[in-house]
Amino acid sequence: MKSLLITGGAGFIGSNFIFYMLAKHRDIRIVNLDALTYAGNLSTLSPISNDPRYSFVKGNICDRTLLDALFNKFQFDTVVNFAAESHVDRSIVEPDIFLSTNIIGTQALLHIAKRHWNIEPDNKYCRVYRSGVKFLQVSTDEVYGTLGSSGMFVEEMPLLPNSPYSASKASADLIVRAYHETYGLPINITRCSNNYGAFQFPEKLIPLMIHNCMLDKKLPVYGDGMQIRDWLYVEDHCSAIDTVICKGIDGHIYNIGGNNEKPNIEVVKTIISALGKDNSLIEHVKDRPGHDRRYAIDNTKITTQLGWTPEWTFESGMAKTIDWYQNNQAWTDKVTSGEYLDYYEKMYLQN
Ligand code: NAD
Ligand code: TYD
Repeated sequence: MKSLLITGGAGFIGSNFIFYMLAKHRDIRIVNLDALTYAGNLSTLSPISNDPRYSFVKGNICDRTLLDALFNKFQFDTVVNFAAESHVDRSIVEPDIFLSTNIIGTQALLHIAKRHWNIEPDNKYCRVYRSGVKFLQVSTDEVYGTLGSSGMFVEEMPLLPNSPYSASKASADLIVRAYHETYGLPINITRCSNNYGAFQFPEKLIPLMIHNCMLDKKLPVYGDGMQIRDWLYVEDHCSAIDTVICKGIDGHIYNIGGNNEKPNIEVVKTIISALGKDNSLIEHVKDRPGHDRRYAIDNTKITTQLGWTPEWTFESGMAKTIDWYQNNQAWTDKVTSGEYLDYYEKMYLQN
């Protein structure tokens, strides 16, 4: 039986990944370690709370004592690290927490995994590990920085992150890579483009626009709205990570993208039209400082070497996502109370 530690599994992609893995693999045990920040919502996982293959632990990935106890108890062979502060706008306002969770937290996980998986834990020079173990770091295409009007991100590109968020993720990638180069730890890094789908916190572009549009609230588009993102339906991201766990070559980095480049304004107009509203809801607001102009993922490596392909078109994924938010307003209401509202007001008023 495979024993997985999933960190950040109460967030958007982590929760979708847990659902995906439990549905796909019978012989599996998943421990979800999540600090339940504003972005982590346990109610999302209520459908599987009685599944004997699944357990939840509230805790911080920086807590080495806790990590050690969990490795002892559950004998993990796979770690998938989703836990992160994930929102660029927040990283501009309050960068400190991004460095502690995204960098220090990742290194704490690496450190404990190395000790538990190494066949000679006290020998710093031993590069031999139990067979079948893997540390998968979930990263982002934002570590590459921004593109001009042509070209795509490939795995060999230098890292040129522009926001505190992407700089923290790039730093984590480098320390994960260093654990492979120095200690031989079996790792993979995946770098995906912007995800969308059910359970995404409504501070990110697509769920925020759906939420506001349903309530006839203004749709704040940063600058001219011609920034391009390369959209990936979350279920395709989950299947890609599963593929990398099974087939990824130790030490390799894999880009994950769905070949869906769209300017933000087009995405917003798609939502307006699907909900039968009017473009007058759009409000161009002050641009984000350091705003990356264009992301585009070249997914040739994962498609040709590991045989993964995205299954969702942007149209089908968006229809399903809009439908989900229309039918789950109670979820959105629940997660957007309290601290989030203060933050949102602050951000919006600043613009
Ligand atoms: P999210 O913000 O929805 O969820 C993050 C989760 O991590 C939350 O449940 C939160 O409670 C938890 N968490 C935060 N700090 C923690 C800590 N110190 N210890 C334990 N848990 C903690 O994020 P997401 O959108 O699901 O992103 C998941 C991962 O994918 C992140 O690493 C992110 O950088 C990466 N990523 C996301 C996207 C995207 O479009 N959402 C794109 C590329 C990469
Ligand atoms: P976001 O969902 O925050 O993801 P990221 O910054 O990681 O790409 O933003 C996606 C794009 O949408 C980005 O170009 C910023 C833009 N955007 C807006 O125009 N208005 C908004 O209210 C938000 C949240 C984002």
